[in-house]
Amino acid sequence: MRSLSLLTTLSLLTILSLPPPSESVRCHPQDKKVLLKIKQAFNNSYDFSSWNPDTDCCTWYIVKCDRLTNRITRFNLITADDVAGPIPAAIGDLPHLESLTFHKLPNLIGTIPPAITKLANLRTLTITWTNVTGPIPPFLSQLKNLTGLYLSFNNLTGSIPPSLAQLRQLTGLSLDRNRLTGSIPDAFGDIPASLMYVDLSHNQLSGGIPRGWGGFNFTTLQLERNRLEGDASGLFGRGKSIENADLSRNLFKFDLSRVEIPQSLRYLDMNHNKIFGSLPAGLEPLTFVNVSYNRLCGRIPSGGVFQEMDYSSFFHNKCLCGPPLPECK
Ligand SMILES: *[C@@H]1O[C@H](CO)[C@@H](O)[C@H](O)[C@H]1NC(C)=O
Ligand SMILES: *[C@@H]1O[C@H](CO)[C@@H](O)[C@H](O)[C@H]1NC(C)=O
Ligand SMILES: *[C@@H]1O[C@H](CO)[C@@H](O)[C@H](O)[C@H]1NC(C)=O
Ligand SMILES: *[C@@H]1O[C@H](CO)[C@@H](O)[C@H](O)[C@H]1NC(C)=O
Ligand SMILES: *[C@@H]1O[C@H](CO)[C@@H](O)[C@H](O)[C@H]1NC(C)=O
Ligand SMILES: *[C@@H]1O[C@H](CO)[C@@H](O)[C@H](O)[C@H]1NC(C)=O
Repeated sequence: MRSLSLLTTLSLLTILSLPPPSESVRCHPQDKKVLLKIKQAFNNSYDFSSWNPDTDCCTWYIVKCDRLTNRITRFNLITADDVAGPIPAAIGDLPHLESLTFHKLPNLIGTIPPAITKLANLRTLTITWTNVTGPIPPFLSQLKNLTGLYLSFNNLTGSIPPSLAQLRQLTGLSLDRNRLTGSIPDAFGDIPASLMYVDLSHNQLSGGIPRGWGGFNFTTLQLERNRLEGDASGLFGRGKSIENADLSRNLFKFDLSRVEIPQSLRYLDMNHNKIFGSLPAGLEPLTFVNVSYNRLCGRIPSGGVFQEMDYSSFFHNKCLCGPPLPECK
């Protein structure tokens, strides 16, 4: 019948113009629902324009789906001025997230929401260069799978929660460039041996280095520009594997002559402290050293790094002498 074949043609056309069959849509409907909530919470900002509700969310920018499970495993929102408001609580409803990043979002404000603790599979949490405020929440210790916790360059206040020492998988921790106060918690004396990279610099931290840090092998330890005090010599010594240490602009006070420089050390900045004694043997293989503005004495060794650095690495000490400073008397 003529009308039937017309109908067939029409329905064929309809089928052809439909979106691809559902088996090729990878996005999990629950994830899509949550992502659209997040988009709305950020006021449908321009950065989410690829998040068209009629399309597969596994093709959207900012997020990534796992190849096998098709669940959202990555959320990476970076460099967007028009993303404004607090971190939406809905972020906690993406249960398969392994990596969450908010970076360079000057108008991201508010505190770190408790909803984040629902992300049991999270391995990396990055909230950097934002205007997020409030304390570093102790509840972050519930994210047992975290290997990286990066909270640099925000407006975080209060002290470092001791509970963070319970994150036993951590390899990297950066809390630098906030307004943190108080001391480095004693609980940090028992940090996991996996922790290689620690940056607590540019805060207002006070007190000493935790007892126990002497037993650890940091690769990079940045503590500069705080108000830390006391003896930091335990960070060094034979058999350590520290490579980069920046202790500058603190109130550390110890005898440097008694420090055994580990063979692994490459970068050592200790400027602006109260360190006394003389320069120990073993510094020559370094590529950078700065011990200016301390209370050191004695002759500057020759060769290696001492040939590379200019006087500004050594000036303003009690009585260091010899090239590149004036000759010893
Ligand atoms: C969201 O967008 C509307 C309309 O452009 C605007 O009036 C409102 O202030 C925005 N809200 C935020 C939190 O940016
Ligand atoms: C925080 O907000 C201020 C004022 O809008 C802005 O100047 C600053 O760059 C922001 N900070 C960051 C780290 O984005
Ligand atoms: C860590 O992740 C694994 C899977 O990668 C998961 O089985 C486990 O439950 C997670 N740990 C916690 C404390 O949730
Ligand atoms: C941090 O917050 C304080 C008080 O809310 C504000 O005065 C200051 O400008 C903020 N700093 C930055 C870098 O945004
Ligand atoms: C630190 O590193 C050195 C050299 O790699 C190693 O011999 C030592 O056992 C390590 N110590 C700890 C506490 O991991
Ligand atoms: C060493 O530190 C002092 C004090 O901050 C600084 O003036 C000098 O430029 C630094 N020198 C080098 C080589 O970094």
